Amino acid sequence: MSFNLSVIPTRHILLAVTGGIAAYKSAILVRRLKDYGFDVRVVMTQGAQAFITPLTFQALSGYPVHTELLDPEAEAGMGHIELARWADLVLVAPATCDVLAKFSHGLADDLLSTLYLATKAPVWVSPAMNQQMWAAKATQRNLQQLVDDGVHVIMPDAGEQACGDVGLGRMPEPEDIARQVAAYFHAEHRKVAEQYGLLAGKKVVITAGPTREAVDPVRYISNHSTGKMGFALAAACYAAGADVHLISGPVSLETPNGVKRIRVSSARDMLEASMNRLHEGCDVFIATAAVADYRVATIAEHKIKKSGDELNLNLVKNPDIVATIAQQEKRPFMVGFAAETQNVEAYATGKLISKKLDMIACNDVSRADIGFGSDENAMIIFFAEQYGLDKRILEKAPKQHISQQLVEAIHEALSKNVAIS
Ligand code: PMT
Repeated sequence: MSFNLSVIPTRHILLAVTGGIAAYKSAILVRRLKDYGFDVRVVMTQGAQAFITPLTFQALSGYPVHTELLDPEAEAGMGHIELARWADLVLVAPATCDVLAKFSHGLADDLLSTLYLATKAPVWVSPAMNQQMWAAKATQRNLQQLVDDGVHVIMPDAGEQACGDVGLGRMPEPEDIARQVAAYFHAEHRKVAEQYGLLAGKKVVITAGPTREAVDPVRYISNHSTGKMGFALAAACYAAGADVHLISGPVSLETPNGVKRIRVSSARDMLEASMNRLHEGCDVFIATAAVADYRVATIAEHKIKKSGDELNLNLVKNPDIVATIAQQEKRPFMVGFAAETQNVEAYATGKLISKKLDMIACNDVSRADIGFGSDENAMIIFFAEQYGLDKRILEKAPKQHISQQLVEAIHEALSKNVAIS
């Protein structure tokens, strides 16, 4: 399931397209980069325009495409020096032999080669060319020079080429390149967060998604949780510098970058995994999971056959995970969630006290636009009395933004240095 979990600030990618048959892939690359939340502007060389029109990139990026070094109109808008400063990363894809040679010799006779010299941003090149041209000594010499100058080279793929040759020289798929760019920015962000993030040095454990309680080998009891809230929170905690373990029931989301995921099915599995993590060390425990309160007393060994008009299942209570962790002698800072459909505040504060939590975030799951399954949420946060913090209202926003506000609230409560007992 596609659900953008990125919580890092929007970054600017200057995509430079040079003249090779792989230029068509760059159109898709713009799309994939935007999927990751990047702001993309495009520069094209004369050669690139022989393969694909600037209009295509203008439509995909949402910006006019830059093609000329000495275009008075362009300079009056965003000139080449401003463009060079605007970029957080310059990505040349595809990069021809010609542009590699220009970069390695410091030529500056067109917009792209001038930008290369004028930018402080990291420069990535994705060479794409005929396999013999790739292997040529001059190309390899130029590439080595670029590596020595700090340019990052995305290695070409091997395979059948447009000219009929087989070998190294194909531009990797746009999805791969976009993923590498996103991973780079995540790693950069993480380096800073590990030192200065709001949760730097904290070990965070998060439960997420639904649990499944088996009825027989083919049936189960569950609920509508998709895990979006818990996964967004895991990404936000990681972006804030924490070491994050995400204990998730069955959901179809990808694991957020850097987060360690433990897959479970039933409430009892989730409790066991939570206790294991507690023993490994945990400073903050966040329970976003929609845990089934009951399970069938005895799971049928074989598929239950259709018989009479009624079928009664005998249900027994599941353990309460968050309350069990909160009762431990050496317990972490405990954050619960409350899914309510009425008397939202009263029930949430009741759970805060009865489950001995430090903080509870409550959402009204009777609303179709937030809560279960939605990309957005709205919450009210309550803190245990000893923190002396007022309730906080988080207005409706994407779950990523709600998560960042929850991280800030957790940080604020932790900085009160209240003894947790
Ligand atoms: O996953 P999404 O589709 O994004 O939806 C998000 C969500 C609506 C599931 C989430 O925002 C949410 O409200 N999670 C809590 C759901 C819930 O079970 O609430 P509750 O009020 O029943 O439980 C209170 C707290 O006790 C919760 O922290 C819950 O994880 C915990 N609990 C409950 C029962 C149990 N046996 N063990 C528990 O730990």
